[in-house]
Amino acid sequence: MKILVIGGGGREHALVWKIAQSPLVKKLYCAPGNPGTAALAENIPLAVDQLDKLLAFAYENSIDLTVVGPEQPLSLGIVDLFESHGLKVFGPSQKAAFIEGSKAFSKDLMQKYHVPTAAYGVFTDQAEAEAFINSTGAPIVVKADGLAAGKGVIIARTCDEAISAVRDMLSGNAFGAAGSRVVIEEFLTGEEASFLVITDGKNVIPLASAQDHKAIFDNDLGPNTGGMGAYSPAPVVSPAIHEKAMLQVIRPTIDGMAAEGRPYRGVLYAGLMVKDGEVKTLEFNARFGDPECQPLLMRMKSDIVPVLLAVANGDLGSSAIEWHDKTAVCVVMASEGYPGDYRKGDLIAGLDQAAEVKDLYVFHAGTALKDGACVTNGGRVLGVTALGATVKEAIAAAYQGVSRISWPGVQSRTDIGKKALERL
Ligand code: AMP
Ligand code: GLY
Repeated sequence: MKILVIGGGGREHALVWKIAQSPLVKKLYCAPGNPGTAALAENIPLAVDQLDKLLAFAYENSIDLTVVGPEQPLSLGIVDLFESHGLKVFGPSQKAAFIEGSKAFSKDLMQKYHVPTAAYGVFTDQAEAEAFINSTGAPIVVKADGLAAGKGVIIARTCDEAISAVRDMLSGNAFGAAGSRVVIEEFLTGEEASFLVITDGKNVIPLASAQDHKAIFDNDLGPNTGGMGAYSPAPVVSPAIHEKAMLQVIRPTIDGMAAEGRPYRGVLYAGLMVKDGEVKTLEFNARFGDPECQPLLMRMKSDIVPVLLAVANGDLGSSAIEWHDKTAVCVVMASEGYPGDYRKGDLIAGLDQAAEVKDLYVFHAGTALKDGACVTNGGRVLGVTALGATVKEAIAAAYQGVSRISWPGVQSRTDIGKKALERL
């Protein structure tokens, strides 16, 4: 088979790494890819939003399966476009990807189908939003309705902070059109988990549990990022929580999307808040999480290609996924300044030395080649991911890799996996 992976981040490097191991694959492409994917696939210099060019490439090269990593091309309708030309593609349609593309839509869906979530309101008017904030009180959460690369969520500690966040969003200054409507919701406490499933719209295969680390600094302090590290499995997802997530969140959402005329196929990612044995849904994403994908795919024992193909064909049948009985920990190394404006173009030292650590793989995200050397080229630069027999061993191996890699101003959290250790 010939497979095309779309995207160029750590998630896509992990997908390429996993897909390349399949005996079914004869040729693998990645668009646009990064220096990491270039070692395993042929990179095609097309951006993820160049849908017509991606279609022409897939058509001319007889691609048997396209796997879409990021949300942007999904929201632009890449799946519909490819399918209308008879091409097989893994991912939700534009109408189904709306579950991530609009937070207002996803909250209304949850309310309609009784999926547990935080109390909320949706606003386009500043005065109405202010009245809601003042009557609810702080802390309170303000979210841009549309896509904002994981940064459109403000946890406001005071009503004034919430009101000014709403003003920034509604005026278009903060997130452009994505902020022209806002969701304001109750602040939830508890421990977060990333609960991902693969579905054909009827059948559901839950993936192993995972936990992200959204905040930039240790102990979940500082502003939110796209994710500073992840591990799998996440002990917060006990068998009872797993069952609740499937029954109360995943099943009604997939059935609800079908009932709304938006049948869902692909990866459905539920961001959960777990507290006192109950789950509430923070958000849905229409794709693999990044960095959750990196530890998840390192733990996946089964060939992923037959599963992706079965979903693209619309029938998972009795497909199943087996997992290595190990823990995987991914520590993200980021550029100085991230998640704000960040430095670029710094030489990355120690990649070869890190690769010598046993059961460790360094996934590339924001990297580039300059005069044959690897340099930083994005906010999140690398995802250093290790497998271990225990959480402790996986953490130790991942940080051994991290300690061997450096560039000026590099930042990474030192506490990835700590919450799993505390639950032992
Ligand atoms: P979202 O993109 O909606 O998942 O929000 C990003 C992050 O913001 C989540 O992973 C949480 O850490 C935090 N967050 C979102 N909604 C809430 C909420 N209602 N209460 C507390 N934290 C939240
Ligand atoms: N790591 C969170 C996300 O992919 O949205």
